[in-house]
Amino acid sequence: MKIAITGANSSVGLNLLNHIVSSTDINVIAGVRSDRAMQSLPSSPQVDPRIISYQDPAQLAAALEGADCIVHLAGILIEDKNTSYTSANIDATAAVVKAAQQLNAKHIVFISVVGASANSSNAYFRSKGLAEELVKNSGLPASVIRTPILLGPNTAGASSMIGAASQAKTKILGGGKYSMRPLDIDDLNQAILNCCNGDSLEAKLYELVGPEPIAYRDLIQKTAAMMNNEVEVGSVPIAIAKLVAAISSRIKGGGITPTVIDVITMDEVVDSNADGELNITLTPLQNTLEKILEHKKNK
Ligand SMILES: NC(=O)c1ccc[n+]([C@@H]2O[C@H](COP(=O)([O-])OP(=O)(O)OC[C@H]3O[C@@H](n4cnc5c(N)ncnc54)[C@H](OP(=O)(O)O)[C@@H]3O)[C@@H](O)[C@H]2O)c1
Repeated sequence: MKIAITGANSSVGLNLLNHIVSSTDINVIAGVRSDRAMQSLPSSPQVDPRIISYQDPAQLAAALEGADCIVHLAGILIEDKNTSYTSANIDATAAVVKAAQQLNAKHIVFISVVGASANSSNAYFRSKGLAEELVKNSGLPASVIRTPILLGPNTAGASSMIGAASQAKTKILGGGKYSMRPLDIDDLNQAILNCCNGDSLEAKLYELVGPEPIAYRDLIQKTAAMMNNEVEVGSVPIAIAKLVAAISSRIKGGGITPTVIDVITMDEVVDSNADGELNITLTPLQNTLEKILEHKKNK
């Protein structure tokens, strides 16, 4: 099988590439936007790195040609001067869908987020919801996988969790009372490949979350204990954090905004977990944390 990955230099993309190279014989077209991003990709005969442009539909289609499955990962939570929810989450998805239609692709996999909705009042969730609609209405066989916070080597979630857990004292939004369903990145990797291998002819939506809910403050304390550290978890009031974020993001032209704070502090809840449907045996949280800490030790 040959798959094409957009945003291959993203943390999800690098984890997926490393998984593919170390444990499968799948060939990959790894699509990135710059030479710099290309340097971060694993070097392997299985990986064919290509520069792609979401502004040039013909070039994009030519770059993705030959793939049995297109895995669209490019997307952002934090806007900056160069990239917005519209350009990264909606326009890039529209371009990939158009290229996939042109190529009559056998399958598209799109990674979305728990909470995504085209009608959401939150701009991030709305952009991912609108992108989902583009994929679902493409007329092509597709899998949209909504995920919670992802834990794996170098994911943003794992880095901030370990950062907080390494301190003697830390202050987190609202005292970290919100409930998370952390998903092991290896479980997502397997889910993506199972979707690519599947024979569904429709567009399907899955919500795939980790095996156990946990408050963010407890996640930090659990991680700290596994690092033989004791951390005192304090609180930054959410209203104050949003006010500061509103001012600083306006000055900087991006970064943490009230929108991002709402996303981070949302309870991650799903009606039904798609692990069974996707044929995934979820990794227990304890094992996920052990793997991440082991990886950090060996870095
Ligand atoms: N990490 C999580 O916990 C999590 C949770 C739920 C869903 N997801 C989804 O998983 C996917 C990957 O997330 P990640 O955290 O691994 O991402 P990441 O590491 O932050 O990487 C972002 C990717 O998006 C690309 N990008 C940025 N602006 C773009 C634009 N305007 N047009 C096209 N591409 C653009 C970046 O390319 P450049 O390097 O060239 O800028 C990079 O490849 C995203 O769709 C995200 O929404 C992630």
